[in-house]
Amino acid sequence: MSEWTIDERDFPIDGTPEAQLRFLVRYAVLAPSGHNTQPWLFRIRGDRLELLADRTRALPVVDPVDRALVISCGAALANLLVAAERFGMDAAATLLPDAGEPDLLAVVQSTGARPASSDPALFRAITKRRTTRRAFESTPVPETVLASAGAQSASCGVRLHWILEPQRKHRVAELIAEGDRLQCADPSFRRELASWVHSRRASGRDGMSAYAFGMPDLLSPVGALIIRTFDTGKGQAAKDHALAEGSPAIGVFTTLGDQTADWIAAGQAMQRALLSIAAAGLTSSYLNQPIEVPTLRPRLATLLGTREFPQILIRVGRGPELLPAVRRTVEDVML
Ligand SMILES: Cc1cc2nc3c(=O)[nH]c(=O)nc-3n(C[C@H](O)[C@H](O)[C@H](O)COP(=O)(O)O)c2cc1C
Repeated sequence: MSEWTIDERDFPIDGTPEAQLRFLVRYAVLAPSGHNTQPWLFRIRGDRLELLADRTRALPVVDPVDRALVISCGAALANLLVAAERFGMDAAATLLPDAGEPDLLAVVQSTGARPASSDPALFRAITKRRTTRRAFESTPVPETVLASAGAQSASCGVRLHWILEPQRKHRVAELIAEGDRLQCADPSFRRELASWVHSRRASGRDGMSAYAFGMPDLLSPVGALIIRTFDTGKGQAAKDHALAEGSPAIGVFTTLGDQTADWIAAGQAMQRALLSIAAAGLTSSYLNQPIEVPTLRPRLATLLGTREFPQILIRVGRGPELLPAVRRTVEDVML
């Protein structure tokens, strides 16, 4: 059975706090993560759930300071809290509770009170959200969708900048293409990416298949070999340039600081925004190259007219329905 098929009615209403928190982890693991590494671990002690960074799943080349790794964990935390609200648990998260344990990113505890509000549409979107790397339709993203994604992000203290005008999209597309050329020219970047490309039929429950890139799943081993062996930067740059320019909306999340707490907030903001986009029947994908390449990041900030730190770059639109990406089970991620 797929990790994406969860029957809400299985929530253990009369179960122990431990059983209830464990059920919520089923939603947390559906969060997106860089290269689908799923770099999170959970520990439950009574009514206390701890979220830990699993740095054995780091991507040292593309993400040398674990920034995207922590953002991914922030996204898992957002799913967990949205699900907790839905099941009537007023769960509160304390971020970075112990300076002596840097991998402990958050502690979630139920306050016992009824939650102030719950948004069923956001909750239902947890299992509907996909990363869609295909081209999107050109129809504009409704203003209401842009506004509600922005509001979700703002609720976590993170700004979401929308880029809608063709000229500005073109300038962002140029930065993305430059990032592709620089990244693909680096054999260690390609080797790291290739090591996370596996077939959906492989026994592993992580990584990305050729299917995720719009090719038959069977081609996953060939795809990994091509990525590892050839500098495909020119072709990738042209493809991503066209995807960025052709997407009706590009969004960039920025934070005031650039430390672990900012990255957790960015992950929560991103995921809440992505859920609101999925709830509206739209989809999204990432083009983070100008944030991952250190020389391009300040140029992206200048283009946005901000002194804040860009954390994630998404494109949004209407795309085809896709099969979900593989996930590890709750047992796999529990300490
Ligand atoms: C922090 C972060 C960075 C990501 N960066 C990229 C990226 O640069 N390019 C890309 O195609 N996907 C990127 N992704 C998407 C992941 O590859 C995707 O979430 C994962 O393969 C699982 O698929 P799903 O989102 O459909 O569940 C990123 C996701 C996160 C959370």
